[in-house]
Amino acid sequence: MEEIFSRINGAITTAELEEIRIAVMGKKGILTARFAELKNCDETQKKALAKELNLLKVEFEKALANKKEELSLRELQEKLQAQKIDVSLFSASNFRGSNHPIMLMLDKIVEYFEGMNFMVKTGPLVEDDVHNFEALNLPKYHPARDMQDTFYFKDGKILRTHTSPVQIRTMEAQKPPIRMICPGNVFRCDYDLTHTPMFHQVEGLVVENGKDSVNFANLKFILEDFLKYIFGDVKVRFRSSYFPFTEPSAEVDMSCIFCKGEGCRVCSNTGWLEVLGCGCVSENVFKAVGYENVSGYAFGLGVERFAMLAYSVPDLRAFFESDLRILEQFK
Ligand code: DAH
Repeated sequence: MEEIFSRINGAITTAELEEIRIAVMGKKGILTARFAELKNCDETQKKALAKELNLLKVEFEKALANKKEELSLRELQEKLQAQKIDVSLFSASNFRGSNHPIMLMLDKIVEYFEGMNFMVKTGPLVEDDVHNFEALNLPKYHPARDMQDTFYFKDGKILRTHTSPVQIRTMEAQKPPIRMICPGNVFRCDYDLTHTPMFHQVEGLVVENGKDSVNFANLKFILEDFLKYIFGDVKVRFRSSYFPFTEPSAEVDMSCIFCKGEGCRVCSNTGWLEVLGCGCVSENVFKAVGYENVSGYAFGLGVERFAMLAYSVPDLRAFFESDLRILEQFK
């Protein structure tokens, strides 16, 4: 046993200690073998031997435990030392993302209208014919349906072609007064230099009780104020136009922000940029949602166009190609 104790003392790993434990106390261990001798002894021998062996065993276990504690501590320290992390070291991967320009513009638009007490509403991307067309005064035979190349599903559902159906859904869900905008994606079967199959719009709707509570002048005021908020000091003009869901309808132009109205390539030398559609809500739309004795106005805009103008992005495709060299400029 003396030799065993000096082996314990000289051990340098806990694994080595475990080997020693097995050699002594394991099934074929030397102490185990001596305990087995007990059954061949007579009573008096047995007592003396048992005492001696138990003492040895206690001593052995104590020596083993002490050494184990010492070695475990050293091993832990070695491990910690090896895994040490220097938190002050420069990290090569400290890459920070940036907001997408479309989202930046959406946030700015929402910020303006929230400040004007508009609620932000959302609606489904997969729409039915009634909400996307019919209730907006666009019955099946209506030629204006051709203005929006539609994606159809087999069951007759469609991908919404504009955010205007959220006007209908909001009016169905609540009574006037309503002041809401709806930012969201819309889809059209169209793909070329200036069109993508998915793009973003913001819809606006205001409805008040009473036939004459809201009129075109209110609409003019808020859109002019809004365009100045987004683009700075621009001139704004309203051009008579046609949308089935508004009467009267207008398209809104602002003075070209690149040439200040002088005429350039971006504004096709007209000095004006078309940026919005709007009008007073048609009686037929109110009829479709069961509203009576109300008045209101609505407007709709394309977010990509706003972002292209405000951030001087010349090519629509830049928004969809995920080119980090472009996106990183919006940090
Ligand atoms: N929904 C129209 C479109 O996608 C945009 C629009 C025009 C919305 C006039 C309106 C509006 O609410 O009054 O082209």
